Amino acid sequence: MTISNETYIKRRAQLKQCLGSGLLLFLGNGEVGMNYADNTYRFRQDSSFLYFFGLDYPDLAAVIDIDEDKEIVFGNELTIDDIVWTGLQPTLKEKCAVTGIRETQPMSSLKTYIIRAQSKGQAIHFLPPYRGDHKVWLMELLGINPAEQAARASVPFIKAIVSQRLYKTDEEIRAIEESVDISTEMHLAAYRKVRPGIHESEVAAVVEEVACRHGNQLAFPTIATVQGQVLHNHGFIHQLREGDIFLLDAGAETKMHYAGDLSSAMPVGDRFTERQKEIYEIHLASFQAAVDTLSIGVPFFDAHMAAAIKIAEGMKGLGLMKGDPVEAAHAGAYALFFPCGLGHMVGLDVHNMENLGEQYVGYLDGQQKSTQFGFKSLRLARPLEPGFVFTVEPGIYFIPELIDKWRAEHQFTDFICYDRLDAWRDFTGLRNELNYAVTSEGVRLLGTIKKPMTIEEVYAAKSATA
Ligand code: GLY
Ligand code: MN
Repeated sequence: MTISNETYIKRRAQLKQCLGSGLLLFLGNGEVGMNYADNTYRFRQDSSFLYFFGLDYPDLAAVIDIDEDKEIVFGNELTIDDIVWTGLQPTLKEKCAVTGIRETQPMSSLKTYIIRAQSKGQAIHFLPPYRGDHKVWLMELLGINPAEQAARASVPFIKAIVSQRLYKTDEEIRAIEESVDISTEMHLAAYRKVRPGIHESEVAAVVEEVACRHGNQLAFPTIATVQGQVLHNHGFIHQLREGDIFLLDAGAETKMHYAGDLSSAMPVGDRFTERQKEIYEIHLASFQAAVDTLSIGVPFFDAHMAAAIKIAEGMKGLGLMKGDPVEAAHAGAYALFFPCGLGHMVGLDVHNMENLGEQYVGYLDGQQKSTQFGFKSLRLARPLEPGFVFTVEPGIYFIPELIDKWRAEHQFTDFICYDRLDAWRDFTGLRNELNYAVTSEGVRLLGTIKKPMTIEEVYAAKSATA
């Protein structure tokens, strides 16, 4: 997929119209050294920079000067020293033509431009920085101490960007679906690979090979583990044993950087144990309850609660919880087993626009994000609207450290049967995750290839050959 220069021009025009006045400052990302300057992490452009300018190159900045009606990209042409190491590239002017920008200036002019704007009394709008080099850069450009930058970032600028990037066009949804398909292929490779005796790293290798072979990058660091209760477990250090549950959370991004984000749970051996089947089925019921709730205008919070209630019901059925499951879920007791949120927005970032603030992205003005354990990790709660793309990813986890803490603190003793949990503390954890888009016709599951979900589908995928 390529995005036409008209699209970028339209996106910037809409942004200008939304803000009405002032100077909008966009800092592109640079290369970041892992252990010395020339040994870098994979370059990743800032997603708002990509969205409005499409320029996937390091060391650029841009200004949209609404008052002067100017759009300028700041950057330096490559020197012969650069070209020796990186090869010949289009000139900055040529790169910018593709995005409909006619004016370029050397990077050294950016500060002068900003000082002049400040002297004219123009408001300088900037976004909260998430990289150390941007904090230094903002201090140099605006004289604002890094500790104060997030608080002084422009809320109108944030809200204007969110109000555009939230609503995906059909073209963007197709791009996300393309990354979901590659991500599904990554997961199918894992289903075939997982078996007793091998190591997590061997599964991660076949998963990541798929993205690499397609010429794509990962949308986020792969989680491939038999310790799924550790939510962001990127270590790949364990050996897989008969009786373990393997959890994979992995996704690719397209060449334009639209992300897919899927999770799968499977037995390491040929079959789940009876106990694993019981938890897997409760999880599937919670997934279905959440999906049944999804509809235009319905808060995603309701889908989260539907999943939480099903988990509380299932746990009660196993004797691990007691009392009314609806009350238990609303009180937050479910979070012992499901401490994270049901899902999050997806787009150019896997957690779309998380750098701009979850409160602005996943919540409406006036819809306060809870600070209570469990609820506070819900990244998306607002009513669904056409154009939204998001994940659904309920999970069930037995986290021994959390069980011990809650038990010692006598938390939710009306709802949780701590004595019965001793026999379950080493269960680990499982989840599945799929991606959905809302269109004017309703909510649609993304992906043209089916990712296994039911136990029969999981077993079939495990015994399939490539
Ligand atoms: N895919 C990782 C996450 O959603 O946090
Ligand atoms: Mn996710």
